[in-house]
Amino acid sequence: MPEKFLQQGEFHVPVMAAAVVEYLATPQARLVVDATLGDGGHSLALLQSGHDSLNIIGLDVDPNSLAVAQQRLAAYQHRCSFSHGNFRHIASLLVAMGSPSPDGIVADLGLSSRQIDMPERGFSYLEEGPLDLRLNPSLPQSAAELLAALEQDELVRLLRDYGEEQRARRENRRADVGSRRSRASATKPG
Ligand SMILES: C[S@@+](CC[C@H](N)C(=O)[O-])C[C@H]1O[C@@H](n2cnc3c(N)ncnc32)[C@H](O)[C@@H]1O
Repeated sequence: MPEKFLQQGEFHVPVMAAAVVEYLATPQARLVVDATLGDGGHSLALLQSGHDSLNIIGLDVDPNSLAVAQQRLAAYQHRCSFSHGNFRHIASLLVAMGSPSPDGIVADLGLSSRQIDMPERGFSYLEEGPLDLRLNPSLPQSAAELLAALEQDELVRLLRDYGEEQRARRENRRADVGSRRSRASATKPG
């Protein structure tokens, strides 16, 4: 499976790698958690920093990212552990892995360029794809299904609270909700 994803574009290039190494790869550090593993760029930089006693736990909510990163970091597998999950459960995930007290945690929030580059995930700005928008594809509802199921007030709340869209109510009233919902069930234009 990772091969399929590795073929879809180059690795995500993290912009904070130097800072992450500077702050987290200290001589005392034994364990750093990469809470948003993505393609593993930050973890790779830490593993290659010259501090060979530094180990990594990599978390990601997207199983595809986890598979790509696992393959990319294979040369360092003796210093890495991986966990599929949401970082909002980081405390219990670390306890379950027997590592409740890491020396550092890095979280590079958002999406990776790989996720954006795959139109079938629904995040692409350029190519048409389904209105899916799930970082974890095993979650029960795609964005299209959510749009079709929500009442208008719930939709306004969702856009306002999670999308930080101040004009949510006005935009929603103006939109033809019925036609938006039927289009949503199909695809999202790139
Ligand atoms: C900007 S990318 C990280 C890129 C990574 N630093 C690298 O060098 O490749 C963000 C990653 O965080 C993951 N992610 C987003 N929200 C998450 C959450 N709540 N819990 C765990 N992972 C999450 C995404 O699936 C994505 O792979």
